[in-house]
Formats: sequence, C-alpha cells, structure tokens
Amino acid sequence: MSEWRGEGRSIGAVPTMGALHEGHLSLMDIASRECDRVVATIFVNPLQFAPHEDFDAYPRNLDGDAGLLAARGCDALFAPEKAGLFPPDFSTNISVAGVGENHCAVARPHFFDGVATIVAKLLLILRPDAAVFGEKDFQQLAVIRRLVRDLDIDARILGGPVVREGDGLAMSSRNQYLSAEERAVAPALFRTLKQAGELISAPGAQWPEIRVWARKALVDSGFSSVDYVDLVEAATLEMLDRAGPEARILAAARLGATRLIDNIAVAAARAG
Ligand code: PAF
Repeated sequence: MSEWRGEGRSIGAVPTMGALHEGHLSLMDIASRECDRVVATIFVNPLQFAPHEDFDAYPRNLDGDAGLLAARGCDALFAPEKAGLFPPDFSTNISVAGVGENHCAVARPHFFDGVATIVAKLLLILRPDAAVFGEKDFQQLAVIRRLVRDLDIDARILGGPVVREGDGLAMSSRNQYLSAEERAVAPALFRTLKQAGELISAPGAQWPEIRVWARKALVDSGFSSVDYVDLVEAATLEMLDRAGPEARILAAARLGATRLIDNIAVAAARAG
C-alpha cells in the first residue's frame, strides 16, 4: 500500500467480517468508483460480540470470500489474525456517546464500542482515503462517521445503499441462520417498514401510534419479538415524533435466535 501511496494513488477500504454477499460486493464497487485501489478487510471482531452472542458460530469462509473479492476487482485483502491486532494486554476502548446509544445499543450494549474500536484500528493501520460501510447497519454507519469526525481520522466515510433479495429482505450474513419457515417470514420486516413509512408521511401523522401498529404487524407476521421500531433524524439518530426532511425508520426484530435489522428513508410529511 505504501507503494500505491508513493505513486499518488488513492486507496479505498471495505472493512467486513467476511461471509460476503452481494451487499458487501456492492461496497467494493463504490470503493472502486471512488478510489484508484481497493483493499478489503476480513476480521470477525471479538470486541463487538457479547459472550452469549454468535462469535463462534459466525460464518467464516476466507477462501471463498477471497475469490469473490478478487473477481470484483479487489486489489488487496487484509485478513489479520486476532493475535496480530491485539496484544495480550490490549486495554483500549472507544465509546461513541449519543449516536452510539439507544436503538441497537439497548439489546447490544457492548456492540458499538467494539465496532468503533476495531474500525479506528483498521483505519489507522490502512490509512485509506475513503472507507465504505453498508447503510443496512445504519446506526453503525452513524457511529463510524462520528468517530472519524471526532478523532480527526483522515478518511472519507461513504455509505452504500441496502442491497435486497428479490422479496425485499435486506442481505445479511446472518440470513443464513434462518430456517425455511423463518426465511418465509423475514421479508415482513421490510414490508412493515415501507408501510410505516407511508403512514408517517401522511399529514398530521404521529409516530407513537404508528410504532405500536408496526410492532404488532411484525409479531402478527410471525416475528418472535421486536427490539425496536424507531423514527429518527438520520444524522443524529435522535427520536422523532413526526416525519422531517431527513427522517429514517430503524428496526430490529427477532425470528427465533436470529436478530434482523433494517431501515428505510422516509419522505417528508405530505402537506395536509
Ligand atoms: O459491519 C461489519 O461487518 C462490522 O461491524 C465491521 C464494520 C467490519 C467492524 O467489525
């Protein structure tokens, strides 16, 4: 990479935990458009998993992933071992207040510290001109934007739109945990978000009632439970009661042991 830098080439990074799908590969395309060279990272980051979560079970397929990346024009792959990144007495934690609270942080209180800490490390190691993250993890993207701004890390952070299966389910490495029955229910998450988006765009619509409706719609569709369905301002993730120009609906719901997240942009409320 220092050779590329010496030649004046710009470098784009696509940090991932592997188990790659078209959503990740679309981020590669954005990095290739924006930069002269692209480096992908694959590291299943232990810092962002709680002890009861799926770190051990998280799908790993380094050879298959490397092939997909090469076919998509990836110039370099950084896939470190844990020991190479973390000395035994590693003791630093980066915590992003505000955007790193509420929403996913309620069920996964350790998660965004783990993400912020590893992303800071990866950006400092690779020193890319730009790094691309998926909008499916919308809160994660907001946390990373804030981290980079607050710590003066010299990388542009780019978001890639959610990539969906034909039936609307947002692509995710964790979709492979779903049984056939759960997979049939899963598209109801996006369907419900779209309906909630329509409802909140109506003149005078108030989020508290629509939130109750959306939670019930998810359970009625077959979701086991709903972590949250929140209407937020896109940059700060502050809760809203009414649609604004940059409103977004974020949701997380569970199908058995699998937790799915999704989000949509909301059109500004129509005039009454
Ligand atoms: O979105 C992911 O795959 C991970 O959370 C990330 C950003 C690579 C950090 O481990």
